[in-house]
Amino acid sequence: MEIAPGEFVVILGPSGCGKSTLLNVIAGLDERDAGQIFIDGIDVSDLEPSQRGLAMVFQSYALFPAMTVRRNLSFGMEIAGRPKTTIAEKVAWVAKLLQIEALLDRRPSQLSGGQRQRVAIGRALVRSSSICLFDEPLSNLDAKLRAETRVELKQLHETLRSTMIYVTHDQTEAMTMADRVAVMHKGKVEQFAHPQSIYEKPASLFVAGFVGSPAMNFLQGRLDHAGRFQVGDIGIDTSGYGFEDSSRERDVVLGIRSEDVSVVDQGTPESIPATLAFTELLGADALSWFQCLGKRFSVRLGVNEARAMQPTVGLCFNMAKASFFSAASEQRI
Ligand SMILES: Nc1ncnc2c1ncn2[C@@H]1O[C@H](COP(=O)(O)OP(=O)(O)O)[C@@H](O)[C@H]1O
Ligand SMILES: [Mg+2]
Repeated sequence: MEIAPGEFVVILGPSGCGKSTLLNVIAGLDERDAGQIFIDGIDVSDLEPSQRGLAMVFQSYALFPAMTVRRNLSFGMEIAGRPKTTIAEKVAWVAKLLQIEALLDRRPSQLSGGQRQRVAIGRALVRSSSICLFDEPLSNLDAKLRAETRVELKQLHETLRSTMIYVTHDQTEAMTMADRVAVMHKGKVEQFAHPQSIYEKPASLFVAGFVGSPAMNFLQGRLDHAGRFQVGDIGIDTSGYGFEDSSRERDVVLGIRSEDVSVVDQGTPESIPATLAFTELLGADALSWFQCLGKRFSVRLGVNEARAMQPTVGLCFNMAKASFFSAASEQRI
């Protein structure tokens, strides 16, 4: 992975896939078995954490419980022997930036979760590192505060323009905050790209199933020489979308997002028969869930369209938006 200066990169993956380990290896808190880490072109792989010039915010916040907020913020700078006036200026700057001025004389136990989280971020920011590492910094907050802090962190990044590497298992955080997302699975980065390309063109079946809510719909079938997708006795023409391969037929998995499926009368050519299971009204739109060739299929619809839904219908796919994955390798075709 190569991360540009000032970039906001999110490392996204399910719990246990190795995100914290990767972050700790970058920070020098964990040993690596292979590979190298370069910062500003310099190989730092064998340097101590303190020599790498990184700032880190931990999931647990790791604040000193016996110290006031002010002291939590200044302690690192005191240890580093920074002048008193600089320390005072830095603390004042970060307290204003994060709106924790009124809390400076409290102890962590006297703060709410959101306030503690701000202090933890503040402590990283006063180090004036050009690179900040975050390990699931919002996971201890309730949903509302998480959404608010997400926006604030993004704004903070716009202001500071420091390089941020941010670990989360929450795909909404990844999609909304990142310049680029690295999707991890079982210790490997499966895709490193702009959030929109990850959503539209997932590199693997895993990425397709992990990113997006609801998850992508999948249908197993065969792709013939002419690019005709065959599922049971139904054939769907995909010619013109680049899936033809005159040399072979392939077992594939079709992936299609709920907004790229439309509902037609049952029996319409190139449509798949489906029965309505239930509908979720989401306010602005609705999700109708169908039983389709033994699989559950989600379709995003207008509220009125969903309300008027017949119990048995056909589903049609917008092939311009479809993804195909090799059934064998699970990689994108
Ligand atoms: N590249 C890797 N190779 C082998 N084991 C790994 C690798 N990355 C992480 N692990 C192990 O997997 C477990 C979960 O890793 P962790 O980094 O805590 O995951 P996450 O932060 O994504 O939940 C840990 O026991 C860790 O030692
Ligand atoms: Mg972790």
